[in-house]
Amino acid sequence: MRMNVISPFVMVIFGATGDLTSSKLMPALYHLLEQGILPERFFIVGFARRKLTDLDFREMMKEAVAKTPSVKNIDLNIWDKLSKNLYYQQGFFEDRSPYDALIPLLATFDKEIGACITRFFYMATPPSNYSTILNFLDETKLSEGCGQGSSKWTRVLIEKPFGKDLDQAKQLEEQLAKTFDEKQIYRIDHYLAKETIQNILAFRFANQVESLWNKDYIDYVQITLAESGGIGKRGKFYEGVGALKDTGQNHLMAMLAYTTMEEPENMTANEVRKKRIEVLQQIKRTEENRVATDVVRGQYGALKMGERTVLGYRQERDVAANSLTETFVAFKLFIDNSRWQGVPFYLRTGKRLSRSVTRIDIQFKNRESKLFKQFQMENHQSANLITIRVAPQEGITMKLFAKTPGFAYEIRNVDMDFSYRSTFNREIVDSYEKILIDSMTGDQTLFATASGFEATWQFISSITRVWEKQPPANFPNYEAGSWGPKEAEELIERDGRKWMA
Ligand SMILES: NC(=O)c1ccc[n+]([C@@H]2O[C@H](COP(=O)([O-])OP(=O)(O)OC[C@H]3O[C@@H](n4cnc5c(N)ncnc54)[C@H](OP(=O)(O)O)[C@@H]3O)[C@@H](O)[C@H]2O)c1
Repeated sequence: MRMNVISPFVMVIFGATGDLTSSKLMPALYHLLEQGILPERFFIVGFARRKLTDLDFREMMKEAVAKTPSVKNIDLNIWDKLSKNLYYQQGFFEDRSPYDALIPLLATFDKEIGACITRFFYMATPPSNYSTILNFLDETKLSEGCGQGSSKWTRVLIEKPFGKDLDQAKQLEEQLAKTFDEKQIYRIDHYLAKETIQNILAFRFANQVESLWNKDYIDYVQITLAESGGIGKRGKFYEGVGALKDTGQNHLMAMLAYTTMEEPENMTANEVRKKRIEVLQQIKRTEENRVATDVVRGQYGALKMGERTVLGYRQERDVAANSLTETFVAFKLFIDNSRWQGVPFYLRTGKRLSRSVTRIDIQFKNRESKLFKQFQMENHQSANLITIRVAPQEGITMKLFAKTPGFAYEIRNVDMDFSYRSTFNREIVDSYEKILIDSMTGDQTLFATASGFEATWQFISSITRVWEKQPPANFPNYEAGSWGPKEAEELIERDGRKWMA
């Protein structure tokens, strides 16, 4: 299905010289233009601290887009179309004057189009800035759009992490609600918009596999989000946030929600979000005396490889030499409902791990077979497994038992593989393209909700409350390039299982 062209709009990106804008938002806009989904005329206003002219900003964004792996060779026709729609507003988030300067600038855009065009405010900044920016949007009435109160042709997009804890998340919600209605608020967790995650609903509910998707047939579930990279230049942001809040509270929970939710009645935003929230609210909080056994935190140390040294976390830029921020976390949780009673979920996420991989493994129980019990089952635990490969090599593998060819009747595990690359003759839609399009068309299905975030923060807080009282004594406790601390292996091996990635 071909998308309709979006109407002219203006998007103010707060934090437009940062990594997110260069690596995700600009390439996404470029690809949307390439596909003919954006109109000829729209307005992107980059707002950031450093001094740049419109031309400097355009040049900076051109370099960023040209460097993006998905772009390969930049098409100058497309680039020119994007470039002429880019503007820059220099300023500090804490000063009122740049917001005041936006008022006449945005008005000239409305005038050029001859209508009150929709205004998007994209918070691509460290989370500590959200509150200040929201205050000024409210104070200057930029939040009202040119309809001044009545039409509300404005939307706000907020990046994760949404607060640093439950209290901050609630304060942020209160502040948002003061200025915007729920239908104007787009809380981003780009994992919700990933093609492979959206496909979980189709895989489960369009197929009979759903009849087996419960405690009677599923032994346990693993979710891994591993990054081989370190924190790069993002030390200032990462310090004091850590793996549990940076990717655990949102991305791991997004994958958990789609894997475990009940079937929505229909595909509307209300219904899908309702089912996602329900299951997140049923996650059992970790009891205080279980945190030490069911949760493992880690921090990467340096790795010497011949002449080369991969820096440890504490040696990275903008990181304290005695930092206690975790760069890895693994934990076990349970969901308190009849479908999942007693099924353990093992989740882990971290940086500087052995390789970058995101996957969900659903291990089914072995079938008690009268027919096959006398056969030696090779690799007995590694069949009856469904692996959802979120990235890379996006797809799904089912490991099943099959007869090996030959005169004897022997069975072994084999892979049945679905791969996006070989099945569909087109590129997977990037999650940021999907986020931009859905926010422009007003579809909130793939955006997070206040209640969902509240539920995940409740769970995360049950861990951090204990951590705060017991600082880690052994950081750094894993070598860069490994699979994390040995305690993470012990966490799952204690239950007679192993991490699969
Ligand atoms: N990077 C990613 O791939 C990624 C992915 C998913 C989500 N996110 C989320 O996106 C958000 C932004 O991340 P990022 O990596 O782009 O951050 P970043 O690289 O640190 O960029 C921060 C931006 O904010 C601006 N800024 C900071 N303080 C300012 C101030 N006081 N006044 C004016 N401008 C100020 C910086 O301007 P100057 O550079 O001009 O100082 C820069 O444009 C975060 O919430 C992050 O969690 C990022």
